[in-house]
Amino acid sequence: VQADVSVRDARAEDAAAFVRAYELAWDAMAAPVIGKGLADIASFEGRLDSFRAGLEEASADARILIAEDGDSIVGIATCRRDGVTCELRALYVVPDSWGTGVARRLMESALDAMRDRGAVDAVLWVVEANGRARRFYEREGWTRDGQTRASPLGPQEVRYRRSL
Ligand SMILES: CC(C)(COP(=O)(O)OP(=O)(O)OC[C@H]1O[C@@H](n2cnc3c(N)ncnc32)[C@H](O)[C@@H]1OP(=O)(O)O)[C@@H](O)C(=O)NCCC(=O)NCCS
Repeated sequence: VQADVSVRDARAEDAAAFVRAYELAWDAMAAPVIGKGLADIASFEGRLDSFRAGLEEASADARILIAEDGDSIVGIATCRRDGVTCELRALYVVPDSWGTGVARRLMESALDAMRDRGAVDAVLWVVEANGRARRFYEREGWTRDGQTRASPLGPQEVRYRRSL
């Protein structure tokens, strides 16, 4: 892990940097799979609004976490607990920080938060063709549970599960 990366809850003033980091990570993943950038799908203003709406709903059971290297955001994670199951809803790290351990750190922080609230297992959806993400999750102890769905943007998604 980079020496000075820290994880904390997102705040309102993170909006623009959060949206930019999300876009960098999304585009690096999606370009080969979906053939479009995030800016082709949603406006910057619209994405700021979504972040703010998410922050309003954030709670002990629905966290929005960011990883910071100095004063720049290098990754984000969101998760939500429903009973004893936690869903890791987003895990996005900027490409410059891939392979550094930031992703693992963010994921563990998100899962720890939900474990502390009583979650005993976790699920996530990932695009089937997203080989890098799937390899990462499999290394971190997640396994496919057999569920599949079409994502709103088209590509097939598969569900992974992990005991906490
Ligand atoms: C998914 C993500 C968080 C993983 O973090 P990361 O720092 O890149 O992960 P790591 O480098 O620790 O691990 C990636 C693994 O995939 C492997 N890998 C790299 N490219 C690959 C590819 N094209 N196909 C399959 N495996 C690949 C790496 O070798 C590594 O496995 P190993 O450590 O067993 O060798 C990060 O890549 C990311 O933010 N991607 C864009 C957003 C995204 O797709 N998020 C997930 C949405 S569900």
